[in-house]
Amino acid sequence: MSTEAAALDQWYVIGSLRDFAQGASTRRLLGTGLTVTRHGESFAVSAGRPLPVRTEYGHLWTSLGTPARPVFALPEILETDRRSIHCGAVTVRASGLRLVENFLDLAHFPYVHTEILGTESKPEVAKYEVEQRRDVDELWATKCEFFQPKAAAASDEGQISQYMYRVVSPFNVMLYKTPPTAPNRWDVIALFIQPVEPDLSIAHPFMLVIDDTSTDAELIGFQQMIFLQDKIVLENQRPRLLPLQPGRETPTRADLSSVLYRRWLKEKALTYGTEERTDRVA
Ligand SMILES: [Fe+2]
Repeated sequence: MSTEAAALDQWYVIGSLRDFAQGASTRRLLGTGLTVTRHGESFAVSAGRPLPVRTEYGHLWTSLGTPARPVFALPEILETDRRSIHCGAVTVRASGLRLVENFLDLAHFPYVHTEILGTESKPEVAKYEVEQRRDVDELWATKCEFFQPKAAAASDEGQISQYMYRVVSPFNVMLYKTPPTAPNRWDVIALFIQPVEPDLSIAHPFMLVIDDTSTDAELIGFQQMIFLQDKIVLENQRPRLLPLQPGRETPTRADLSSVLYRRWLKEKALTYGTEERTDRVA
C-alpha cells in the first residue's frame, strides 16, 4: 500500500540539528530510508531523490511530498528571554497519532504523572473549549485548567496550571502552559513526531520556556521523566494504531480534543498510523 498524499505532503522533523554529524548519516521516515548530508551548517536530505529541507526551531525538517504550506509559525522562538531546550529523541513503539492524542489528554495526569502533573485526589478535568481554526487549519483546546503538585522543574509548590493545546499538523503538537515564575506568559512545550513506521515513532520534545533558575539538565530531566512515564503507557496501549471508526473506543467528556483530532484526521483522509491502513496491523 502506498502512503497517501495527506501524510506525504507534510513537514516532518527528522532530528535536532545538533544530532547530525558532519558528512552522511541515515534516518527513516514513513517507512522510507533517508540519507542526510551535513556540510557545516548546510543540510541535504535524499530518498533516492533530493527532498525539501528546512532548519526551523533548531530541528531538521523534510518532506517526502510537496507541502502546501511552510513549516508552521512558532513566534515565541523570537523572544530572547526564553530558553530553548532540546529534550532528546525518544523512540516509542506506537503510532505517532497515539502520541499526539496522549499529549492532548488532561485526564491521564493524576494516574500516569502521579504527584507531578496531577494527583489522584483531584482527577476531575474541568470543562475546556476546543475549536478547529479553519483559516490556519489548526486545532486548539483552550481554557484548560488542572491542579498540579509539581507543574514544572522550577515548581516548589502545587499550582492550578492553565493550558492551551495547539495541533498544527497531524504529527506536530504543542502546549502552552503557565510557568511557575511568570503567570502572565506561556511556556511552550512542543512534541515533534517523526513517524518511522505506522506503529513506530520517534518523539522530539522541544521547549521554549521562561525559567531563570533551573539548569538545562534539570529542565531536560523533568521533561524526560514525564515522557518516559508516557512511553510506558503508550507502548502498552492496544491497538497500536489509532482507531478512527466511531465506537471503537469510547470517548469521555475529557476527550473533547481527541474527538476533534480524530474527526480532523478523517477529514484530511490521513490513514498513516491509523487502523484504516489495513496492510500493517499492530
Ligand atoms: Fe503524559
